[in-house]
Amino acid sequence: MAHFRPTSLVILAMALLSLAQSTASVLNGPFDVREASIETIHNALFTRFATCRNIVSSFIARIEEYNPTINAIIALNPEALSVADQLDDRLSTGNVTDPLFCIPVLLKDNYDAVGMATTGGCRALAGNMPEVDAPSVRALKNAGAVILGKTNLHELALEGLSVSSLGGQTINPYDHTRTPGGSSGGTGAAIAASFAVIGTGTDTVNSLRSPASANSLFSFRPTRGLISRSGVIPVSFTQDALGPMARTLDDLAVVLAVMASVGYDSADNATALAPPEVRARYRDHPASLFSPNLKDMRFGLLDGFFNHTASPETSPVSEVMGNMVSRLTAAGATVVNISEATYNASGISATLDVQTYEYRELLDAYLAKPHASSASRPASFNKLYTSGEFLVIPRQYAYIKTAFRSSTGDTSYATNQQGIQNLTQALAATFANNDLDAIIYPEQKNLVVKLGSASQSGRNGILAALTGSPVVTIPAGFSTPTDEAPLGIPIGMEILGRPWSEDLLLDIARHISDLVPVRRMPEFSSTMVEPRTYESVPVVRPNTENIPLAYPLGVI
Ligand SMILES: *[C@@H]1O[C@H](CO)[C@@H](O)[C@H](O)[C@H]1NC(C)=O
Ligand SMILES: *[C@@H]1O[C@H](CO)[C@@H](O)[C@H](O)[C@H]1NC(C)=O
Ligand SMILES: *[C@@H]1O[C@H](CO)[C@@H](O)[C@H](O)[C@H]1NC(C)=O
Ligand SMILES: *[C@@H]1O[C@H](CO)[C@@H](O)[C@H](O)[C@H]1NC(C)=O
Ligand SMILES: *[C@@H]1O[C@H](CO)[C@@H](O)[C@H](O)[C@H]1NC(C)=O
Ligand SMILES: *[C@@H]1O[C@H](CO)[C@@H](O)[C@H](O)[C@H]1NC(C)=O
Repeated sequence: MAHFRPTSLVILAMALLSLAQSTASVLNGPFDVREASIETIHNALFTRFATCRNIVSSFIARIEEYNPTINAIIALNPEALSVADQLDDRLSTGNVTDPLFCIPVLLKDNYDAVGMATTGGCRALAGNMPEVDAPSVRALKNAGAVILGKTNLHELALEGLSVSSLGGQTINPYDHTRTPGGSSGGTGAAIAASFAVIGTGTDTVNSLRSPASANSLFSFRPTRGLISRSGVIPVSFTQDALGPMARTLDDLAVVLAVMASVGYDSADNATALAPPEVRARYRDHPASLFSPNLKDMRFGLLDGFFNHTASPETSPVSEVMGNMVSRLTAAGATVVNISEATYNASGISATLDVQTYEYRELLDAYLAKPHASSASRPASFNKLYTSGEFLVIPRQYAYIKTAFRSSTGDTSYATNQQGIQNLTQALAATFANNDLDAIIYPEQKNLVVKLGSASQSGRNGILAALTGSPVVTIPAGFSTPTDEAPLGIPIGMEILGRPWSEDLLLDIARHISDLVPVRRMPEFSSTMVEPRTYESVPVVRPNTENIPLAYPLGVI
């Protein structure tokens, strides 16, 4: 199957390029970037239908038009247009084999990228200018990507509401009364509204999967150790992962491979865990591999990851998942009901989560690194959390207070790590006992929560976060349309695999989303924005006036 072969795409594009060069005309029509993919952009570039500057300008125009409604962007990259011009120069010489050539990317604002502050959405870090790119960002740039800007996140990636002191509240593009999930909610909202082609996120418990679920997108949380986490504001050594979000599976697969091509990085010792054959697979961003048939597949469905109490918030999720199971079964797959008591997401979170033991030490190490500006920046966890320059939702007081006095030297940390090993063993046994290819469940037991809620309740991400398992999240359906949500509210499904089964998961996701195609663009931003010409990248400022009163600036 040719599905995940960026190289074949580039070969096609090169052929089109020589065709276009022979006609030697530049069409310059308005290229429609709504729902654009790597392939459609490459076709436009290599047939000379559009320049890289046209393409980047078109995305900037959409951001100017629609970002004031959803408030997903913290800052644009002032260099984005000059990078586009450099790529246009390379295009004129035909030197364009990079898999992400001229693909606009938005980074969650906890990734270090030279030339922009890494704020974590936190006012205390407004002046945190990195000296070097995170290795994952460097890999994106080396693959030809245009870093278009930074997206809002939940303050320091600690919750799933996507509200921050520096970025304000991001709004769900499908229902403006709801949050976009989180913590990578700015990326989710922005990619859903076609502000860029792809985006990045981080995930300590749910944060790549909740925004994908709430914005009708695909995301990948890779196996622990596949992608180096260095150069990204950390939360937890055990639980953190980096990964991409995209509107199509092809794009998701390309970006995952580019980010994984960083390989072993001594600054993140978990990357030493990847077997050599896995490393070899990603060295040149190549592609996948199996083409299993759904008919032969066995999926475990986690009954404990549903909320069986009927309500307007839970029933749409159970109905969408019920329909999904019927479709899979009708296509010949076997779905096994897994009802073991182990699979209780709130129970696992309450007993085994280790973030508060690891957070202070990791943040201290990140803040101790040199940074590139004379602007003041807190030098430690303690200085940051006594600055008052951060936002706290009520339940975070307890989290930060616990993090102040906890460390990886605590005996309860060792007990939790043993419990995580036991959970990992139990999960492997569930796969083996039931001969499963993957495990499926809704990302969230209920619809993504309303603006102003106390927390992003009902999410199921903890199982993969603690066990380091890979998960692809796919759009599974929508709730019934209402006045507030003209298309309905997006609902996403997690597909969790054995360690290092990224390729298999992408192929399963491909088969399922071909069988049940779901993704739709949000209605509010569905009109094409007329092309605009820019002398320089405009300044986009986040709206902090919309922060719900329930979330004060911090005093711990
Ligand atoms: C093509 O571009 C890359 C990246 O800028 C550069 O390293 C390489 O030398 C170029 N190759 C040719 C043949 O110009
Ligand atoms: C791996 O790195 C983490 C974070 O820097 C550190 O806490 C841990 O001790 C390291 N593990 C080993 C075995 O070196
Ligand atoms: C299940 O859903 C009901 C109805 O929305 C809600 O009241 C309850 O808190 C939920 N239970 C859990 C464990 O999330
Ligand atoms: C799965 O098993 C549990 C426990 O036996 C049961 O309550 C539930 O209804 C079953 N779910 C399905 C979809 O059959
Ligand atoms: C799951 O765990 C929570 C929190 O520990 C507990 O309150 C709840 O009763 C458990 N649910 C089931 C079905 O056992
Ligand atoms: C993990 O499993 C071992 C062996 O069954 C058991 O002795 C231990 O108490 C378990 N630890 C935790 C934290 O669950």
